[in-house]
Amino acid sequence: MCGVVGYVGPRKVVGVILEGLRRLEYRGYDSAGMAVHDGSSIRVEKVVGKVSDLASRVEGINLDGTLGVGHTRWATHGGVTGENAHPHRDQDGRFVLVHNGIVENYLDIRDQLESRGVSFYSQTDSEVVVKLLSQIYDGDMLRSLTELGRRLEGSYALVILSKDDPGGFYCVRKGSPLVLGLTEGEGFCASDVPPLLPYTKDVIYLEEGDIAEVRPGSVRIWDKDGRPVERPVHRIDWDVSMAEKDGYPHYMAKEIHEQGTVLRSTLKGRLSESGVDLGDDVHWDGDFLRSLRRINLVACGTSYYACLVAERVLERWTSLDVKVDIASEYRYRDVKIGADTLAVFVSQSGETADTLAAQRKVRSLGGRCLGITNVRGSTLAREVHDLLLLKAGPEIGVAATKTFMGQLGALYLLALKLGWERGDLNPVEASRLAYGLLKLPYEVERVLERDGDVKAAAERFCGYDDFLFLGRGFSYPIALEGALKLKEISYVHAEAYAAGEMKHGPIALLEPNVPVMVVIPKDGLYEKTLSNVQEARARKSPIVAVASDGDDLIDQMADWVIRIPRCEECFSPFISVIPLQQFAYHVAQLRGCEIDQPRNLAKSVTVE
Ligand code: M6R
Repeated sequence: MCGVVGYVGPRKVVGVILEGLRRLEYRGYDSAGMAVHDGSSIRVEKVVGKVSDLASRVEGINLDGTLGVGHTRWATHGGVTGENAHPHRDQDGRFVLVHNGIVENYLDIRDQLESRGVSFYSQTDSEVVVKLLSQIYDGDMLRSLTELGRRLEGSYALVILSKDDPGGFYCVRKGSPLVLGLTEGEGFCASDVPPLLPYTKDVIYLEEGDIAEVRPGSVRIWDKDGRPVERPVHRIDWDVSMAEKDGYPHYMAKEIHEQGTVLRSTLKGRLSESGVDLGDDVHWDGDFLRSLRRINLVACGTSYYACLVAERVLERWTSLDVKVDIASEYRYRDVKIGADTLAVFVSQSGETADTLAAQRKVRSLGGRCLGITNVRGSTLAREVHDLLLLKAGPEIGVAATKTFMGQLGALYLLALKLGWERGDLNPVEASRLAYGLLKLPYEVERVLERDGDVKAAAERFCGYDDFLFLGRGFSYPIALEGALKLKEISYVHAEAYAAGEMKHGPIALLEPNVPVMVVIPKDGLYEKTLSNVQEARARKSPIVAVASDGDDLIDQMADWVIRIPRCEECFSPFISVIPLQQFAYHVAQLRGCEIDQPRNLAKSVTVE
């Protein structure tokens, strides 16, 4: 969950590292550090706090050097302290490293090293790694790193400087992402693509167990056994402005605003009124599609809520038996996977540890896996049989917004393809639905224009500390997502329930200090939800309704109505999620919260 960067070349490394860390700060932001090789020694600077604090720290110091590494941390082992911040160094100051991941057997290794007289200044697994390297080192870096890889269990992306080698740095990757950037006369590495975008679009994704040596303009890669390997160079189609705020106060505001464009780009080239084409990374034939009986959708967090929406549309458009689960549960359950099962793993980052483990479980049971992700070079993208990319561009805000929109688009494409090509939907109906889906980006843009109304609602309700979110049918997962957004970025306690469940317990919470946010578009379950609104109102809870244009009845029931355009029931999640994202954003802003980097969270959760 941390971010690592490395650079070697003609530029002053301090600026490159600070800029790189800023672009990685969404991965972790409790402490930051860097190490600079000045040709004869390595200087380490680290702070508790953000990258901006690190920038202030190094401002007055003459850190001259063109080779270095940097780190932004999301604490796993040991508290948020200067000692635990990275980079870490061995006792002789010969090696310095930064680490993303978790080494599971670090306590055993630490015991062994302590029994040999090695002492430790931090509680981290990463210090154990650099001190183990120091013990293993026999004068040959490749041999030593190969041995290091054999001794470590768990996940790690390591970037290592050696005092005796001022010409480059080394990388080792297992379980945590690491991308190399290539340009003439320079070498880069980072946990993710955004730090590389100002310099290059040609990248190499290291594979499991890979070891790399990066020097100005050259890269050598070996597999886990030390055999030289070639890895493909990928051309990134993101540009640097996609990872900038572009005049918005926060990435989240920009990303909410981009959702019409994102949906358009997810659908582009894949959908017409005559069919769905999921592209060259999906390798199914008609026999396979017709043989399917079951579909399992697996994900975490917001991606899981996208799957809950998909469950409803798959049930409506196909005859498949649909099951949805949270990856951290699914991976330990006795799931039944047959040749008639398609398993779908949804992850914005493609690096979420539980989702990857669930995918590996299905593969080990012989199941067919489709990955839906936003990151082409991610672990999920590389491990699945079939791949559907969101094409949402980089999402930097920790709260997922535009990628949720992309996930809905991708999952609806999947549902429509299955319904159409298996013959579950008649072609006329399928074509009509395709048209409805194609129109959605415009509808999304119309809703985004209503941000001012949502802001007014946020101003009225931002003082409450507890919320209950309710919805039924397609609106239930949206209530869950709205509550997650609110608690995640504004630290307001928000629970979501299927509206019909309210009287089975949560109704006990209702009182004038607990507003109910109800997602109640004019759909087949409207009257049912309205009864639940009345029940909440009778307990004197203030009611905020996300309701359709032209619904006059709701005005009599709710204290505040946020209007959304009318649309067909099955498409309502694309529309109704937007005011909930905007509401969370404005409440967080009004409460003075750190919107893009909420406390305790990190964008990609690469630990279990
Ligand atoms: O990268 P993924 O989609 O696998 O991430 C899953 C969750 O960690 C993620 O959706 C998380 O819940 C977000 N912070 C929600 O805004």
